[in-house]
Amino acid sequence: MATDHADQLEIASSEDVVRVRQRVREAAVSLGFSIVDQTKIVTAASELARNTYTYAGGGRFRLDVLSNGRRNGLRLVFEDDGPGIPDIEKALRDGFTTGNGLGMGLGGARRLVNEFEIDSRPGEGTRVTAVRWA
Ligand SMILES: Nc1ncnc2c1ncn2[C@@H]1O[C@H](COP(=O)(O)OP(=O)(O)O)[C@@H](O)[C@H]1O
Ligand SMILES: [Mg+2]
Repeated sequence: MATDHADQLEIASSEDVVRVRQRVREAAVSLGFSIVDQTKIVTAASELARNTYTYAGGGRFRLDVLSNGRRNGLRLVFEDDGPGIPDIEKALRDGFTTGNGLGMGLGGARRLVNEFEIDSRPGEGTRVTAVRWA
């Protein structure tokens, strides 16, 4: 699998969350994602970017264009140096929130993509990786 393009953004404000959405939308369109697949990956990106901003106070976003020879895909990586997620299973459960959200973001994002991984260490930070193939 080849990564032929990478794009990075700081997430330090609400506007940056909007920027992440726009970048992901543009990339999905240029890779020929269907409208439905565009919406899925943009929605996942939006939830994950919002979490990075809200729960970690910000972080970094990287967008990779993937190709496995037959299909193109997008990999989203959200990284922060925030408080971490002590219980990932619990955080993924629908309805679980430590804030004022609906608690649907992480579980929802996982269902909207093909590959999903959370790596988190309490006190150090969190990395969420999501891949959707066109
Ligand atoms: N980047 C993060 N750093 C720390 N905690 C996080 C992060 N992302 C998610 N969480 C935790 O996971 C919980 C569930 O997230 P989510 O499913 O998006 O629901 P919501 O955002 O509505 O709370 C959050 O309430 C928060 O406790
Ligand atoms: Mg959320």
